[in-house]
Amino acid sequence: MQGARILLIVGGGIAAYKACELIRLIRKAGATVRCVLTAGGAHFVTPMTLAALSEQPVHTSLWDLKDEAEMGHIQLSRQADLVVVCPATADLLARMAAGIADDLATTLLLATDKPVLAAPAMNVRMWRHAATRRNVAALRGDGVTVLEPDEGAMACGEYGPGRLPQPEAIMAAIAEALARLSPSTSPPTPSPTPSEVEGRLPPAPSEVEGRLPLAGRHILVTAGPTHEPIDPVRYIANRSSGRQGFAIAAALAALGARVSLVAGPVALPTPPGVARIDVETAREMAAAVAAALPADAAVMVAAVADWRVADVGERKLKKTGDGAPPPLALVENPDILAGLARDPRRPPLLIGFAAETHDVVPHAIAKRARKGADWIVANDVSGDVMGGAANTVHIVTADGVESWEELPKEQVATRLADRIAAAIGRTRA
Ligand code: CTP
Repeated sequence: MQGARILLIVGGGIAAYKACELIRLIRKAGATVRCVLTAGGAHFVTPMTLAALSEQPVHTSLWDLKDEAEMGHIQLSRQADLVVVCPATADLLARMAAGIADDLATTLLLATDKPVLAAPAMNVRMWRHAATRRNVAALRGDGVTVLEPDEGAMACGEYGPGRLPQPEAIMAAIAEALARLSPSTSPPTPSPTPSEVEGRLPPAPSEVEGRLPLAGRHILVTAGPTHEPIDPVRYIANRSSGRQGFAIAAALAALGARVSLVAGPVALPTPPGVARIDVETAREMAAAVAAALPADAAVMVAAVADWRVADVGERKLKKTGDGAPPPLALVENPDILAGLARDPRRPPLLIGFAAETHDVVPHAIAKRARKGADWIVANDVSGDVMGGAANTVHIVTADGVESWEELPKEQVATRLADRIAAAIGRTRA
């Protein structure tokens, strides 16, 4: 990060005070930081604080003629290597997504030709609101890196995702973004290739690509459970934690793949360099998978619900008083893996998982044939595998069955990623 120039836009939320810590960390890493404070942000921190910490002038108004004479807003937006929005409030994200330019911060964000990284912070309901989900998806589609907020207790007394990521995590994302821009500022370990799906940053430098076996490959990963609604307050779910799928996405990204991770409802942080698409139901997952194609490989780790409720109540189901349970008719969900196997855009390498409680390998062999997958990674879920930290898997391919010893899920992920790289990567003979 030595010598990098960061333009830091401080939005109006209680988390603005954490921007002060971020400035300290950025400067400690050898980069310079110039701050832009929104009107809302100025209610939480003062320009004086930011100026003192950054040792740079702080910009607050589009109509500050003195600033415009010294440095135009276009120039300000472009002389940085990276624009960081922290905290990115729901309002700021919405205005960014809509392309509104009614103050200095949003004008700079519209005018910049540099990558933009946003660290959101807001109330859990605001984060989960359909409007914010839409705005975040739109921004990611436009190429903005929107970090996932942390989960926990909030200043407003509620609990859930919406807290600003820790300044150290934002720093890691900044370092990663800068590493993609210039090999000379790269950290010692090569950083993953960015996603074109979220298309946030320019392609990885060829120098980095040259060392990574999956550079230039697009891999689709599904992970986590799906939730199938019964009524507005209830749903059918399963015990999948998403850990194995997220670990696989991380391991593939670390080998340079552009990874699209279609994730069911889990509270896991998005691995660095991975483009995450959050979904709830099996049908949403199927649509997100189709939208992410084409891919060089797909790893279908998600524990997709086999059934959904035929008629989802618009209102909460009430007890009738006669003790009779509601008649819940179920219908089968689409089989995403089998559908992908039949799709004309079928990825050249299609990997399914098989969660089995008994006769693991025979069931997996049958499942491979039935679903049209190239490999099946079979695991015994009779213990605490779902939600646990370790996994014992068998890799079923056309050539036979390979059984691995019990391993932490991260190691299962790295081994599988290596195997995928050997099959479709640059090192392939
Ligand atoms: N899968 C899928 N769509 C579904 C169900 C499963 O894509 N509707 C995928 C899973 O992601 C996994 C594989 O199919 O890669 C096997 O999932 P599993 O739950 O083991 O199999 P089922 O289809 O549920 O088969 P069974 O009920 O016979 O075990």
